[in-house]
Amino acid sequence: MQEYTFPAVAAARTGAARFMNACHHRQPDATPVWFMRQAGRCLPEYRALRSRYDSMMTMVRAPEISAQVTLMPIKAFGVDAAVIYSDIMLPLEEMGMNLEIKPDIGPVIHNPVRSLADIAALRVPSSEEITPYVMESIGLVRRELAGQQAVIGFAGAPFTLASYMIEGGPSRDYRQAKAMMYGQPELWDALMSKLADVVAHSLVAQVRAGADVVQVFDSWIGALNPHAYRRFVQPYMRRIFAAVKQTGAPAIHFGTGTAALLEAMAEAGGDIISIDWHVELDEAWARVGFERGVQGNLDPTLLLTSWPTIEAGMQDVLRRAANRPGHIFNLGHGVLPATDPGLLRQLVEAVHEATQR
Ligand code: CP3
Repeated sequence: MQEYTFPAVAAARTGAARFMNACHHRQPDATPVWFMRQAGRCLPEYRALRSRYDSMMTMVRAPEISAQVTLMPIKAFGVDAAVIYSDIMLPLEEMGMNLEIKPDIGPVIHNPVRSLADIAALRVPSSEEITPYVMESIGLVRRELAGQQAVIGFAGAPFTLASYMIEGGPSRDYRQAKAMMYGQPELWDALMSKLADVVAHSLVAQVRAGADVVQVFDSWIGALNPHAYRRFVQPYMRRIFAAVKQTGAPAIHFGTGTAALLEAMAEAGGDIISIDWHVELDEAWARVGFERGVQGNLDPTLLLTSWPTIEAGMQDVLRRAANRPGHIFNLGHGVLPATDPGLLRQLVEAVHEATQR
């Protein structure tokens, strides 16, 4: 397996060095910043490009287009890392899911998984064959950034992916997925085991293709309590983080609604734990342990207000981070589509300026 190498061309004050230093728990020259869902959504240049294609899947399957969208927020916001324009759902297609991503609705699966036979029929693509167009996009982005900004690869976590596969689309309470989990644990474990392998293959392939860091999105994990998490999710997350660890690349562990789950998530793994806005950053950091890093926390809806309100939120996050190493500035969840891009740029500049060391 390829050994992880710190970007050789990165000088101390590049976004890449800032980002990777924080991931490795070394004090960077300033606190690094990026935003979840920074590629797309609120950018007019993204919307203009998007309107020329029937589906985002078409854009993602074209590595040049994916790379172009990935680079948009670097220029627009001045963030320290690029997150690849793709989606957590894509590997599911290769497992045999008939998948569609509907605008304003989200992922829809036309052949949801309901039985042991459905699960047995799922393919597990190897790290050599998984989403080759994503790997190509990572290579293009890495070459374009030339070590100035870090490259973030990502995958959905098994629980979040399973919720779409079982429900067949977005869900409010994940009742079918949780009914399988509690009521048919042998089916659940068979599905989660396959998903853990697919996610591990995807993340390892992304690091080999040039991702500096990977983030695992367990967006809907807040539906579980700690006991259920430890029984039905944690073993699979451990397997994934162990596979990433072998590559040497740092991993970010993300979820929302996780106030009750922070300890259990940290036990599962991740060099950086992403936290949402239901908890204070200092309290959350103490709970996951100061030997780990943290990111997130700012409420994305704050960005729908005006600068003084946003700045006060930023100052609160920075005060609670207290200059500890391992802090990555981010929102608690993705950028909302109605966000003014100018405010995001202002926020990046303000965080860098306020944290100059
Ligand atoms: O972060 C980025 O900017 C990079 C690209 C990215 C997308 N999806 C692009 C996208 C990332 C990291 C994701 C992750 C993702 N996808 C998650 C986890 C993050 C989170 O927000 O919790 C989840 C749950 C999904 C599933 C998904 N894909 C949903 C719920 C939707 C609905 C629309 C939306 O914007 O959230 C999608 C579609 C999607 N993924 C779009 C984009 C830019 C919009 C599709 C379009 O333009 O038609």
